[in-house]
Formats: sequence, structure tokens, C-alpha cells
Amino acid sequence: MVAIIIKRVGEMGEKKPMPVHVAVIMDGNGRWAEMKGVPKLLGHNQGTIAMENIVRKADDMGIRYLTVYAFSTENWKRSSEEVGGIFRLLVKFVKTELRELKERNVKVNILGDWHDRIPEDAVASIRETLESTQKNTGLVFNIALNYGSRAEIVRGVNKLLSERDRGEQITEEDISASLFTGDENGNIPDPDLIIRTSGEERLSNFLLWQAAYSEFAFTDTLWPDFMPEEFESIIEEYRTRERRYGGRL
Ligand code: FPP
Repeated sequence: MVAIIIKRVGEMGEKKPMPVHVAVIMDGNGRWAEMKGVPKLLGHNQGTIAMENIVRKADDMGIRYLTVYAFSTENWKRSSEEVGGIFRLLVKFVKTELRELKERNVKVNILGDWHDRIPEDAVASIRETLESTQKNTGLVFNIALNYGSRAEIVRGVNKLLSERDRGEQITEEDISASLFTGDENGNIPDPDLIIRTSGEERLSNFLLWQAAYSEFAFTDTLWPDFMPEEFESIIEEYRTRERRYGGRL
């Protein structure tokens, strides 16, 4: 009986809860630049501005966790000019946005190995950001940087193996806790919704373990053109979806 009532509420178009955690694959900066006939780094620059606006919007909407895929382990294959440019944008982002992030009570986390290969000034900016926002209690903004999901799982499992006695069983909870989204960053819940821009429809080694029950939203919009209004309308559409987590009402 209760199940029937709950289902009816859903059918009447009643809004479901806001997603707690939204993750975004910010894709299409290169194509945006190509279409405009401008250097690729201008696409990344415009993409950084789009990202800043989405952070504000997510915070204003009361979303608790926002995760962005800023730089994958595969991105090292790009030219040194492009890679260097992306990290310069990170340094500029911290310089211009850290004050507002602090005012908004945003806590920043880095998902990924930010000590490895990353230019020194970017590491210093990351350290400053993490230290000065660590105690904040508002929106949790996770930047996946030098991140790859399979490597994250391997790293987590190896960490568990080194802590355990031989033959001891490992649980799903243990693996979750061992990931970048686990203990070391305050146990971030799995993403409810993963958005990818630019018309591509794949995960590209992003949050593979954490995405087990995530909903997906794909848009043709190139990331630099992705506006807060579209973010909001994707969230609204998500709130009309029925989520069953493998069960059925
Ligand atoms: C994908 O576009 C985007 C990236 C590889 C980098 C994303 C980085 C930013 C938005 C800004 C930097 C981040 C911070 C934290 C300051 P693409 O170049 O793969 O686009 P394409 O598929 O059209 O070539």
C-alpha cells in the first residue's frame, strides 16, 4: 500500500530530491576554440570561466558536492604548451577565485595525485587552497586532477593489502573508503548525476567505481558555452527521474 502511494506521488509529477552530488565531465574546450578559430588555450580559459559559474550556481542551488574532471592522467599526452597552459589557468583560478570560495564557505578537495608531475607553482596553489578551505562546511568542490579511475582503484586496493593480514577479506565499503573520494577526503557520497558536455557519451576513466548507480545526462553544448541555466534545467530533468537502484517499487 505504501509503495502504491509513493509511486502515485511520482506519477503526479512531484519533484524528487535535489541530487546530493553532481559530477561533470567538462568536454569540448578544444572544439569550441577550433570553431571560433582561436588558440586552444582560449577554449580552456573560457572553460575555466564556465566552471567558475557552475560552482556558483551549484552553491546557490544548495548542491552539497560538485566534482569536475579538470585533468586526466591521459591528458599528459597533450602538447607541453597545452598542459602548461591548463596548469597556469589553475594558478590563475586560485588567485582570482579563492577569496570568493572562502566567502562562500566552499571546501575544495583534489581527487588525484597532485604531488606527481604537476608544476611547482600549481602545487603551491593547490596546497594554499586545500589548507585555507579545509575547515569549510558549505559546498564541497572536488577537482579531479591528474586523475584516472582505474589507477585510483589499484592504488586503493594496494593500500588495503598493505594494511591487512594475508587472506583477510576486503569489502565493498573498504574499497570505497580507500579511493580519493573515501577517507582521505571525508567520504564523499557516490555521484547521483554525471553530466558530460560536447555530445560525447562515455565515462573516460572517471569515477568508475563511484558511478555504479549514477544517472547520466549528456548535452551537445561545448563546455565553454555551458551556462548555469542549462545546468539548472538538467538538474530539474533529473528530479523527474525514477531511481530504483536495482530494486522495484
Ligand atoms: C576537455 O576539453 C577539457 C580539458 C581536457 C580540460 C578541462 C579544463 C578546464 C575547464 C579548465 C582548467 C581547470 C581548472 C581547475 C582551472 P578538450 O580540450 O578535450 O576538448 P575537445 O574534446 O573539443 O578537444
